Amino acid sequence: MSASWSVTSCLFFASCALLVVLAVGSPENSNSELPVVSFDEGYAHLFGDDNLVIHGDGKSVHLTLDERTGSGFVSQDLYLHGFFSASIKLPADYTAGVVVAFYMSNGDMFEKTHDEIDFEFLGNIRGKEWRVQTNVYGNGSVGVGREERYNLWFDPSDDFHQYSILWTDSLIVFYVDNVPIREVKRTKAMGGDFPSKPMTLYATIWDGSSWATNGGKYRVSYKYAPYIVEFSDLVLHGCAVDPIERSSACDAVLPSGSIPTAITREQRVQMESFRKRHMTYSYCYDRARYKIPPPECILSVKEAKHLRSFDPVTFGQGKRHFAKRRHRRVSATSM
Ligand SMILES: *[C@@H]1O[C@H](CO)[C@@H](O)[C@H](O)[C@H]1NC(C)=O
Repeated sequence: MSASWSVTSCLFFASCALLVVLAVGSPENSNSELPVVSFDEGYAHLFGDDNLVIHGDGKSVHLTLDERTGSGFVSQDLYLHGFFSASIKLPADYTAGVVVAFYMSNGDMFEKTHDEIDFEFLGNIRGKEWRVQTNVYGNGSVGVGREERYNLWFDPSDDFHQYSILWTDSLIVFYVDNVPIREVKRTKAMGGDFPSKPMTLYATIWDGSSWATNGGKYRVSYKYAPYIVEFSDLVLHGCAVDPIERSSACDAVLPSGSIPTAITREQRVQMESFRKRHMTYSYCYDRARYKIPPPECILSVKEAKHLRSFDPVTFGQGKRHFAKRRHRRVSATSM
């Protein structure tokens, strides 16, 4: 980006380009109809020198964390909305303290008002599963954490699985293997907290010893290094924002055969089932943290019950308050 780049020029000179390259020879767990880009077409090296290695036909990337450094890559373009996806195989065995992140951000351009949409994978001690965390920030809303954490119904270090982010001007959906696991619907009350400025897509592996596993209790052990995470089926299906060329609104380009634009009825059933089985933390139910849940929260009795059984300390407090609030906040569809 040139130094003269600014929010205004970006929003007014948006160029909507679709990167459509048909998928060839995808790993079995992926949706082979998705438009896959090669590393060189869509991405650039971010950090970590030769800890980033491109494999095969240029469509797979290995990122390594060792005692010297982690590593990462970044999309060449900025996007305003779209569908972003990768098949990821996480490192196995002892991975405590290791963090793999697949996320969108504009933190390098907007220091105080950045937007972010995150998938974070938190490693674990041997025999314990990786955990997945999702989070959303808008316009520098770092004071309001919107974290959710889940375990998965498979071991993510056994094979490739697809992790995707759908971002439109009205919703954000996180998917694992085409199952939506979280939907953030934009509400008026969220104001600028809903991500609304162009972002780039990142993939990184790094040492999160100080917090990733049991609040820093288990640190990265370089005895087990190198930690290698494999990426493939890279999908960048979005509205690429060109700060120089002028063009019309971005959302017109979004709909396209295999690319989802919202959650279907069947998927919603899957999502509810996933959340009441696999969610281990949600800020919406953390009464110690938010006496009143942030405005986009749609509370579900089943999710609340599951979280309480899983962690009665965090989610058990204010039970009576919850019962009262329920009449006001629980949506009929989530019961
Ligand atoms: C984003 O934050 C800035 C600085 O706090 C503020 O001036 C602006 O109005 C905010 N934008 C939105 C859309 O809320």
